[in-house]
Amino acid sequence: MAELPRVFVTRAIPEPGLAPLRAATHLEVWPDELPPPYATLREKAAAVDGLLCLVTDRIDAGLLAAAPRLKALSQMAVGVDNIDLAAATARGLPVGHTPGVLTETTADFAWALLMAAARRVVEGDRFTRAGRWRTWGPMLLLGPDVSGATLGLVGFGRIGQAMARRARGFDMRVLYYDRQRHPEAEQALGAAYAELDELYARSDFVSLHTSLNPTTHHLVGEAAFALMKPGAILVNTSRGPVVDPQALYGALHSGRLAGAALDVTDPEPLPMDSPLLTLDNLIIAPHIASASFQARGKMAAMAAENLLAGLAGQRVPHCANSAVYDP
Ligand code: DGY
Repeated sequence: MAELPRVFVTRAIPEPGLAPLRAATHLEVWPDELPPPYATLREKAAAVDGLLCLVTDRIDAGLLAAAPRLKALSQMAVGVDNIDLAAATARGLPVGHTPGVLTETTADFAWALLMAAARRVVEGDRFTRAGRWRTWGPMLLLGPDVSGATLGLVGFGRIGQAMARRARGFDMRVLYYDRQRHPEAEQALGAAYAELDELYARSDFVSLHTSLNPTTHHLVGEAAFALMKPGAILVNTSRGPVVDPQALYGALHSGRLAGAALDVTDPEPLPMDSPLLTLDNLIIAPHIASASFQARGKMAAMAAENLLAGLAGQRVPHCANSAVYDP
């Protein structure tokens, strides 16, 4: 009987991902709460045929070069900016990822952040728990209306479009910026294309849904904040480094922005001495936008499916570097 392929999974993931791997591979799962240190990950990767990794694992060219046996690489996430895709592609290694299954879940959470920042839900909770709620106050914890406001979406892929769908229920005007126009979605969702400067200038809420790459690193910095409407609110569920944290601090501290809500930070996790943690008008969640039972189960299953296909020499169904197949 042929030997089972060896697989390393860099953390315990939901059972719908582990079960098929257990059945078909010689499986090792990193048991700790924290990710394997880089040196350990590199050693493990060098000894296996398949690696299932997470956004917290740095998969760089050095690690890939040290793992000549690696036949399949699969990430349980849609974003793959932690992986050197060019290096993987150069050696013909398909990289699986998990698009689609977390779209609605992530948009739900981005919407929750938007609502929470506008209506000061987290501040209200802190206020109450601190024993400061003494009476109904006509001026207490006011925030801007969401209904009827203008939403600017930076990035209009699956999740950006799911945000536009939600915005319709709130009678919002929706502007979007993307590298490419999406005429059908514009039509279906009542969204209008705007160049970035215009989007910043006209939006009451700016929500980020772009991938992280050299052109989007610190895309939202001092210049962007200077263009935004006074009192605007920023939501980021994309990747932390899309926003310049120092510039964000300045914009929130000065009151130029009314608030912001982040699910992702730069760096991650945010160090406890980060000045951002001193701001009352900032909500920070620990990168949990896709963290529903259902979405995480589907992400794990899809990551396993991608990995097993790669190990079997089949086309990886959800491949982030399809150039390995169509050079
Ligand atoms: C992703 O999928 O890229 C998220 O950041 C993790 O769910």
